[in-house]
Amino acid sequence: LGLLDTKMKAKGRKYIGSAADPNTFNESTCKTILTSDFGCVTPENSMKWDATEPSKGSFNFGNADVLVNFATSNGRLIRGHTLVWHSQLPSWVSSITDKNTLTSVIQNHINTVVGRYKGKIYAWDVVNEVLDDSGNFRNSVFYKLLGEQFIDLAFKTARAADPNVKLYINDYNLDGPGTKIDNLIALVKRLQSRGVPIDGIGSQSHLILGQVGGVQTQLQRLAATGLDVAITELDIRIPKDVTSAKLSQQQSDYNTVFKACLNVPKCVGITMWGVSDKNSWVDSTFPSYDAPLLWDDYYNRKSAYTGADAAL
Ligand code: XIL
Repeated sequence: LGLLDTKMKAKGRKYIGSAADPNTFNESTCKTILTSDFGCVTPENSMKWDATEPSKGSFNFGNADVLVNFATSNGRLIRGHTLVWHSQLPSWVSSITDKNTLTSVIQNHINTVVGRYKGKIYAWDVVNEVLDDSGNFRNSVFYKLLGEQFIDLAFKTARAADPNVKLYINDYNLDGPGTKIDNLIALVKRLQSRGVPIDGIGSQSHLILGQVGGVQTQLQRLAATGLDVAITELDIRIPKDVTSAKLSQQQSDYNTVFKACLNVPKCVGITMWGVSDKNSWVDSTFPSYDAPLLWDDYYNRKSAYTGADAAL
């Protein structure tokens, strides 16, 4: 396999990965980079609930299958993303009002999606973003009807559907100190004490230029639970306008974040949330920011790449 990924494996870790889906890896330059630098892919959208089960009991695996075939035929790992999430959730699920119905809907969804790719996925983000910005439980249909136990249900169902896959809880804003990470760690400890089959914690790490100093300390705190940890959706967005000074800062920030993972023995890998700035979700989601990734709009390697590479 390739450059960043090869170097990461030489350090005894599992992978450097990227978000991908047919829309991006069907661009030939993107595909070339995915096969040169990356050893793991996360479906950016194709395994989310709105894509896989748009209406009740009616499943669609078109794009997910294309991604899985690409990854397995090229010897890449896959991080499945994601089974239970309040966002990109079809309204037929969010409008459920009955506890028993929701329980069987969750079970059927997880059994079908995890079962389809049994043995082919390295890790699943079983639940995503269960805490809000303040660190409280998000008031999703899942939490409203089932309470915290929806998490137990999701992990146990996933474990039964694929006994060998790593099962992760995934969330954002775990890169600095505060109530959010405190509450996430407390939640993980409750899951562990109840015997819930959880293997890892994913820290999304959608970061802002110049604000990466806390990453290693917080990652170490997550690892102190005894679980694997991973950086699952890394990007470092630059407040507009992008200048050469800011790109140099980004180079240094990427170096810091890659080193943070390497300095935490339980950090198994880093996933970039995309290859090229051209296709990043940042453009539409954070319009006053830009240029968050390792390759620019024309697929030239940025100084950010040099910063990441130098850590490996
Ligand atoms: C984003 C995708 O990148 C976009 O293409 C999509 O429109 C919205 O979702 N946290 C997550 C990811 O866990 O699934 C999100 O991905 C980014 C934030």
